[in-house]
Amino acid sequence: MRADIAVLPGDGIGPEVTAAAVAVLQAVAHRFRHAFDFAPHDIGGIAIDRHGDPLPPSTLAACRRADAVLLGAVGGPQWSDPNARVRPEQGLLALRKGLGLYANLRPVRPHPATLGAAPIKAHLLSGVDLVVVRELTGGIYFGEKTRSADGASDLCSYSVAEIERVVRRACVLARLRRGHVTSVDKANVLETSRLWREVAARIARDEFPDVTLEHQLVDSMAMHLLSKPRAYDVIVTENMFGDILTDEASMLAGSMGLLPSASLGDGRSGAPTHCPIDSACAAERPAMDGRAGVSASRESDARDGRRQTTMGLYEPIHGSAPDIAGRGIANPVGAILSGALLLRHSLGLEAEAACVEQAVAATLEAGVFSADLAPNGRAAGTGEVADAVIERITAISRVPE
Ligand code: NAD
Ligand code: IPM
Ligand code: MN
Repeated sequence: MRADIAVLPGDGIGPEVTAAAVAVLQAVAHRFRHAFDFAPHDIGGIAIDRHGDPLPPSTLAACRRADAVLLGAVGGPQWSDPNARVRPEQGLLALRKGLGLYANLRPVRPHPATLGAAPIKAHLLSGVDLVVVRELTGGIYFGEKTRSADGASDLCSYSVAEIERVVRRACVLARLRRGHVTSVDKANVLETSRLWREVAARIARDEFPDVTLEHQLVDSMAMHLLSKPRAYDVIVTENMFGDILTDEASMLAGSMGLLPSASLGDGRSGAPTHCPIDSACAAERPAMDGRAGVSASRESDARDGRRQTTMGLYEPIHGSAPDIAGRGIANPVGAILSGALLLRHSLGLEAEAACVEQAVAATLEAGVFSADLAPNGRAAGTGEVADAVIERITAISRVPE
């Protein structure tokens, strides 16, 4: 298939890990005879320096036209003056909002080879396989912000519809997994959380009787996530809780550099397409555009003979890591696995996605570790890890007839 992928390297280690992920996707294209076009665009700090805007209109327009977006990271100390007019992170938030990507999937599946790198006891980690579904375009991140001489405020608000759609997404995902959803909130204190809990309970009861829903307060969840991580299947939560819990969850895997993410919305024209999660969601949801079940793909697909694609943004969960940037030592696995999610969710290329995941697993099994995973041993550089993955893609994959 042909696909246009917008690449937003961003700042710090962003360009380093993105280059590794693009090299892996190029190897996949070569091996499986696809034609992927990678077009780079500015976002974050570098976009402020070059265009005075962390999300230049040309970048947003290019992302809207693309089949999928691959992003590195944004931010850094040089743009972190508290009095700065604009920050790199605003570009990323505007991109997520501008593309309508309200559901951020962050899978956590510790690999046996990296259990030793995790600060948690290995016997608690084997068999851990969970996905955090983080609400991505609402909550305190996007509420009104005020600042005066004697105070500041950030408004946290959620509409019923915003909660319904992300909880639905989590329940559909759970149906494809072990059928268990943990909804995380702070309903003992926050009004938005009381609404969240009420809506989550109604959606699960009325639309997903086959899914088990439990509620958990976020503070004790932070503890349970480390003490009994195997107990969780799908965790759904609001924007800021999801941000914090997933950095914590990266310690189950062993490093911030290991976790990928996929940010998904309802697709280009309403109902989504081939991603199993998306298709099931489309079947559940009333028509959004009067054409329920109709592809959310590029309007032009049918005309130019392309396969259908579903817009998504793919990025590792880590940041720009200014402390290690520019040294070629960042772990590219989170970015590479984000590329696998892109193949699966946006391009519908399941065999190719699984091939990348197997190649990453085989690389870790072979003990090819970047410095974050091998503090005392011989560490592979960012490019060496990518090369090891590419070598295995070439070795293990078969071109489907
Ligand atoms: P961070 O994720 O950048 O780094 C936290 C720690 O993890 C650092 O010690 C870093 O070296 C390490 N680390 C992160 N990614 C790694 C990798 N791939 N390989 C090896 N080690 C890795 O978080 P921070 O230091 O709190 O934030 C730095 C900047 O990044 C801030 O400006 C923040 O706003 C930004 N940020 C951006 C994103 C994003 O673009 N999606 C995400 C988080 C933070
Ligand atoms: C993440 C990051 C971002 C977030 C920042 C950089 C805006 O921490 O993607 O996890 O908080 O969503
Ligand atoms: Mn974060």
